[in-house]
Order: sequence, then C-alpha cells, then structure tokens
Amino acid sequence: MLTVVAMDQHKYHHPNSSHHKKRQSAYQREGDDGERGHYKSKHFKPSHHQQYHSGSNPVSSRGLSTRRELYERDFPVYKQPVEVGSFSLDSRRRFFNDARQLRYYVEPDKEPNFDLRDGYKDRFIKRDDSVKEKLDHILRWILANRSKLSSKSAENKSCALDVDFVTWRGHLTKLLTTPYEAREGWLLAVTRFRDTLYISEVETEAARRERENRTGRHEEMMYWGYKFEQYTCADTVHSSPDPGGVVNTNEAFCTVVQTRLADHRLLFSGEVDCRDKDPNAPGPPACYIELKTSAEICTPKQRSNFHRFKLLKWWAQSFLPGVPRVVAGFRDHDGVVVSVETFPISKISHLIKNEQNCWKPTVCMNFCCDFLSFVKQTVTEDDPSVVYLFSYEPHRDVTYSLHRDSQYSFLPQWYMEEITRSQDSHSQS
Ligand code: A3P
Ligand code: MG
Repeated sequence: MLTVVAMDQHKYHHPNSSHHKKRQSAYQREGDDGERGHYKSKHFKPSHHQQYHSGSNPVSSRGLSTRRELYERDFPVYKQPVEVGSFSLDSRRRFFNDARQLRYYVEPDKEPNFDLRDGYKDRFIKRDDSVKEKLDHILRWILANRSKLSSKSAENKSCALDVDFVTWRGHLTKLLTTPYEAREGWLLAVTRFRDTLYISEVETEAARRERENRTGRHEEMMYWGYKFEQYTCADTVHSSPDPGGVVNTNEAFCTVVQTRLADHRLLFSGEVDCRDKDPNAPGPPACYIELKTSAEICTPKQRSNFHRFKLLKWWAQSFLPGVPRVVAGFRDHDGVVVSVETFPISKISHLIKNEQNCWKPTVCMNFCCDFLSFVKQTVTEDDPSVVYLFSYEPHRDVTYSLHRDSQYSFLPQWYMEEITRSQDSHSQS
C-alpha cells in the first residue's frame, strides 16, 4: 500500500534578505588551499572567526528547494576522503573482496589517434544494465569488513555501523549536480536500518524508456569510453595495454571511502578506472586516475559547453572520493582520439571562472549537505521494509513519498540477518 506523505510541489520562497536572522553556521570556512582544493585535512585548525550565513532555510514542510541561489554560502566542511577498502567485480560480475581488477595507467601520446570503434562488433561483452544490483556489492563489502566500521563505543549500540549514510558515489554525484540539472530527474530510495541511512537509486520511467530505445549510434558511443580505458590501462605494473583484447564492462574495481560532509558521516563506493603505476605515488585515493572521453573542442561555444556541463560532471564524480585527476581523450566524430589532456580536479574551478552564470562547487556541496539533513529528519522509521522515496524533477523541489513492504524495499535478507546476528552477539558479550 502506497502512502503519499508529500506529493505537492511546493516552491520555496526566499525570504527578503533584510529579514534574515543571523544564525551560526554549521560549517567552518576553508582557507583557500590551492592545490589541495576544498578538503578539510586531519590537521585543519578551525578558524577563530566563526562564519555566519543568512537564516534562509531551503527545507519547507513539503520539500527541499533546488534553487541555486539558496546554496551560495561558504563551502561546507568536507573531510579528506579515506579509502577503507576496495573490491572487484569479475567478467561475470562476481564479487571479490580484493583489488584484482585494479589497472595501471600507461600515459599515451599527446595525439594518439586511438580508434575507439575498433572491436565494437566482435570484441565487446556488455554488462546487462537491466539488472539492478542496488547496494548489494557494497553490502557484501560491509559484511566482509565489519571490524573496520563497527562502533567501538558502548553507548552506540543501536547503530550497527559507525556511519550515517551508505550509498554509491554515483548517487552522490547526482545530488551534487542537481541544482544545475535541467534535463534528467532522479529517484532515490532511502531506508533507515539500525540507525544508518541506506540510499539506493530507482530508475525513473524516463530513464527506462531512454535505456530501452537507444539508437545504434548511442550504443556504440557508450562503448567508446571503455575502449579508451583499454588503450590506456595495463593489467599489471609492468605490462602494456592490450587494445587487441575483449572489452568486458562487467569488470570493475571499486574503492570504498569514508568521509564527512558537515555532520554527515558517509561511507560510499565508486568505480575507479586505474592508478598511477609509479610505486612512489601517494597512497589511494590520491594515486587514482579517472579516464574520460569527450568530443573535440573546435569553437568557443563548444568550449563554453564543455566547461558548463562536462566539467561539472567530471569535477563532482572525482572530487567526492578524492581522485585528484582526470585524463581526457578528445575524439572526433568518427571516434578517433585526436588529443589527450590531464585535468587536475583542484584546477577545474579556476578553469570555469570566466564562464558567465557557471556552476559553483559550493552550491553543489551545500545542496548535497542540505539534502542529507532533509533525509535525516524525514526518514525516522527504523525499519528495512519501509522506504522513503525521494524524487527530483527538473526545476522542481525534491519531494518524497513513503512505501511499506513495496517493490522499493532494497535491503536483502542476507544482509539484515547478518547485521542483526552479529550485533546481538556483540551486545551480549
Ligand atoms: P566516458 O565518460 O569517457 O565517455 P566512467 O567515465 O564513469 O568511468 O564511465 C566509463 C564509460 O561508461 C563512459 O566513458 C561511457 O562510455 C560509459 N558511460 C558511463 N555512464 C554513462 C551514461 N550515463 N550514459 C552513457 N554512457 C555512459
Ligand atoms: Mg571513466
């Protein structure tokens, strides 16, 4: 039975600025630390002058506003992400609690002329994207690594894991870009279980239609990104890429990171394309490299679109887990990589400074932070059979509905049983 709690679209009215009450900010201002970007390091000392921002509240009783101007305040505290583990998915999508699928970056020529169409017809095994894996791989990782996460304090018994949120990095990327997303909506299912909030995406009807009606050209272009990875990645430190091999998109290496956004303790996982092969490179996630392809830029308009749309997505995806650079292959209309360029994540905000009306990292992070606060205050029932479904449609507020014992429930029995079993035996000892 579906219980609609809040389906009305309610536009938040920004209060007149002269009526703003000053209230203490929950965040501390970050010093502009250049190369290190916006992360708060372990050694960060809070500034002695407290920051204040206006008392405008983007949460109304019915929803969360997505208007950009409400999120233009100081950058929230975002702790340097720490890798707590990793896992691999093999060619048949089987889970392994190790880094066997991690690949090593081999720097290509600046103008490599890679043919990204090669092998599309005969050396391509595509993951079945109609299969929805939800959070299952992350949950498997959690069960195999409980000791790294469990609460050590006796007073925190109701919280099985010492984190507030468990999710995929990709879901957080969507949250970061929401204030600028004018085309695609999203649905995020949230369940509170033993005081941790689990966030898992639900495919929208529009996304399902798009997936089922892709053109042949679109299908092929989706292959190009993976083919670029094959040209630039080797399986071992000392080997070379093998462009004659099969591209199998079931295979993945995923990092699991822990961090904190303001007062939200996060545990999330994201796929990592490869790492620096230099053994003296810094440890993960700082040695990781994100690979991307993009259409070559020939006009000022194309450059502006690249800054406004592509760099937003690239920045959000890599900033979250602390991956410091993106290596981009620019390709022509026929899928030939004509140039390769490295983009340090910490320099992206400088690159976009001259664009009019461009996206801002602080808006992305503050929106995500306020969404997580909204989720915390909304998702109060601690019950794995209850799902709160949060919904975003472009140019609207985020709203939610509540569902009991529905198709949206996503925590598997094996996970709940194991958490309950180990927690109970822990509290008896
Ligand atoms: P490119 O982004 O270089 O085109 P990721 O970059 O996140 O590691 O993803 C690897 C590749 O998967 C992408 O490479 C692209 O080919 C494909 N891909 C990922 N997300 C996609 C999406 N939403 N639509 C189409 N293709 C996607
Ligand atoms: Mg990539």
